[in-house]
Order: sequence, then C-alpha cells, then structure tokens
Amino acid sequence: MFTKDTIIGVVGSGAMGSGIAQVAATAGHSTIIYDTNSTALEKAKNNLTVSLNKLVEKQKITAEKAQSIQQRINFTNQIHDFKSCGLIIEAIIENIEVKKTVFKELESITKSTCVLASNTSSLSITSIAAACQNPEKVLGIHFFNPATIMPLVEIIPGIATENDITLACQTLINSWGKTTVLAKDTPGFIVNRVARPFYSEALRIYDEQIADMATIDWALKEYGGFKMGPFELMDLIGHDVNYVVTETVWTQFYYDPRFKPSLTQKRLLEANFLGKKTGRGFYDYREGKTMPEPKKDEVLGKYILNRVLSMLINEAADTKYLGIASAEDIDLAMTKGVNYPKGLLKWADEIGLATIQATLNQLYQDYQEDRYRCCVLINQMVKQAKRFY
Ligand SMILES: NC(=O)c1ccc[n+]([C@@H]2O[C@H](COP(=O)([O-])OP(=O)(O)OC[C@H]3O[C@@H](n4cnc5c(N)ncnc54)[C@H](O)[C@@H]3O)[C@@H](O)[C@H]2O)c1
Repeated sequence: MFTKDTIIGVVGSGAMGSGIAQVAATAGHSTIIYDTNSTALEKAKNNLTVSLNKLVEKQKITAEKAQSIQQRINFTNQIHDFKSCGLIIEAIIENIEVKKTVFKELESITKSTCVLASNTSSLSITSIAAACQNPEKVLGIHFFNPATIMPLVEIIPGIATENDITLACQTLINSWGKTTVLAKDTPGFIVNRVARPFYSEALRIYDEQIADMATIDWALKEYGGFKMGPFELMDLIGHDVNYVVTETVWTQFYYDPRFKPSLTQKRLLEANFLGKKTGRGFYDYREGKTMPEPKKDEVLGKYILNRVLSMLINEAADTKYLGIASAEDIDLAMTKGVNYPKGLLKWADEIGLATIQATLNQLYQDYQEDRYRCCVLINQMVKQAKRFY
C-alpha cells in the first residue's frame, strides 16, 4: 500500500505536526506540511533548520543528509497541495468539530486510496472517521512529544477501519524506526489512560496531606526508579495539557472515580500557573526561589510508591482485561512512550499479584470508594496463581 515514493501530508505545523513531518522526511518520503496560519508555517520552517543543524553539529547526520531532508519537506497554506498524498496525518487543534471539517475536506480533495490519520491524544477516532464517506480508511496514528525523539507510536483503528489499512500503517511507521503498539479506540488509548494514576494518586496523597509534593516526587524516583516525580512531570508537561487530558479521560469514561481529577491541579490551571513554562506550577521556578526538600522517610516513601504503583498496575491490568491492548504492547507503550523504568505488567509479576491485590483491597476498605476497586483480572489471576508472563 505504501512505498518510499508515497507522499506524506501533515496537517498542522505546530509542535507535533512539524516533528512528524521531520520523521517522515528523514525516512525518505517527500512530505508536505499544511497550516492555515502562515506565521506558524514560517516558525516550523525555521525550527526545522535549527533542529537539523543541531543533528549535524552532534554528528548524528551529515550536512548532506540534513539538506536532503530539508529539500523533501514542502510548506504550504493550500490544502489542495495534498492531492497526490498517499497518507495524511492530521495534527491540528484538539477540537472534534474542527477535525471533522478538516477530514471531510481532505477526503474530498485526495485520491480514493489516500489514508487519513489523526494524531489526536484524546478524541474518538471512530467519531472523526464518521465525518468521512469512507471511514474504513481513517485511523489514529498517535505520536508522542517530541515526535522526533520519542520512539512510541500508538496505532488506533476506529470501528470501521479496514484491517489491511491498520496493518499497512503499522508496517510503514515501524519502517520509520518507531515502535508501534496497537490500541482499541477508547479514551486515552494506552499511555494516556494507564498513566493517569501516576498523577492522580500522587495528587490524592498530596491533597490528603499524607506527604508533600517534594517527598512524593522523591519516593517515586528513589524507590520506583522513575526518571521524574509526578509533580515535576506535571509541571513539565504543563497543567493546561495534563489537567485537560485527565478531565477528558474522566468525562469520557462516564465519570469513573478511578480517573477523577484533582481540584488542586484545576486551581493551578485557573491561576495560569501552568508549570515550568510560566515560571510557576506546583513548584516555583522563578529566579531566587529554592526547591523544597523532601522528607526522606523510608517507610513513607515505600508507602507512596506501593500505593501509586498498585494503582498504575490496576489500570494496566484493566486495559489488558478489556482487550484494549496486549500485555506486551501495554508494557512497551509505558516504557517507550513515557519512559517508565519497567513494563507495569512485568513489574506486577515481580511484586506478585497477591501483594497488589492486598494493597488495593486495603485502600478500598479504608476509603469505601469505587476508585480503589481491584481489576477482576487481578482477582482471577491471584485465584489461579497466574502471571502475566
Ligand atoms: N503537544 C503534545 O504533547 C501532543 C502529544 C501527542 C498528540 N498531540 C495532539 O496533536 C495535535 C496537535 O497538537 P500540537 O501540540 O502540535 O498543537 P499546536 O497548537 O502546537 O499546533 C497546531 C497547529 O495546527 C494549526 N491549525 C489549527 N487549525 C487548523 C486547520 N483547520 N487547518 C490547518 N491547520 C490548523 C495551527 O495553526 C497550529 O500551527 C492535537 O490533536 C494534540 O492532541 C499533542
């Protein structure tokens, strides 16, 4: 279906679109980026030059290669320039109505064989596809930020997507040097769903004043081996993105308490304390401010890790139980998409599922909240003394 000669279209020249275009052009495809905003296009063009120059300086690619990549990318504000594309990946504003309008237009100007993909983080692929006459050629191809560096790509067929199209896209993106995983079209797909407790359970522990944020961050790094603590990471991602993803996943799951957002984070968003990018978030990054010190208490630290990790494993187990992805793909997704030190289901095997079950049952008993219900798969596996691997 796709060859090296397939022309790749990218809609939107923002953070994601420009990265995706660079990946496609680096893999040898002639690539077209389209944006309605000429300033954004100009910025993307400049950023591409800077990004390629850096790679040359670091001797990751030769100057000739950089030049050929640059020559393969064309920037346009004319959607009709997409008419010869074989695959178009949309990476515009996260708004379902705008995306539907764009997909309808893309379908009307392209060849009947052109595959249309969305890079959406949280919207339903099936719903976007339903705006098209031929929803069978529409799917989700979800890159992570920055697309040039993060190896993971989630491939998400909608309910009408043809299997051949899904497989061809997976093969193509693998050939670009990425690691692909297959996910069912459900809120947050794999990574943005399974990772929710990393933030929300940490926030819960903080909101209940069990520990301060510096201590929670320390505990997850020290005892869990996570590269960053949840508060540092939320500040880096930005609360405008991280809070909105949590709220979207929660509402799309019919307000399942497992995904309930925290008012503390909402207030940061309302205050425009968006994190590192605005100088203030959970932490204060302004000049002259010092970072708070953690309380390095081993018992507390291990309690925090155990609680957050059990909730993460519970979500990973539920994702497997509901057939959203395979155990292997869930573990790959969390290690390659968000740099977890280990796959969660492999980690569950190491800790022992009975231990995870006991932690969750204790939380459930203490809180009497549905949020802490143990996944039925874990209950069944404990009974049968089974492991994920
Ligand atoms: N930023 C992330 O971390 C991240 C990660 C994975 C997926 N995503 C998803 O990728 C998509 C893009 O995110 P982003 O962060 O690159 O956004 P961004 O705001 O950086 O860029 C969006 C670009 O789309 C352009 N645009 C808006 N409407 C358009 C239209 N109708 N036609 C053509 N161009 C249009 C804008 O001018 C802008 O340049 C979203 O769906 C988002 O959910 C984002």
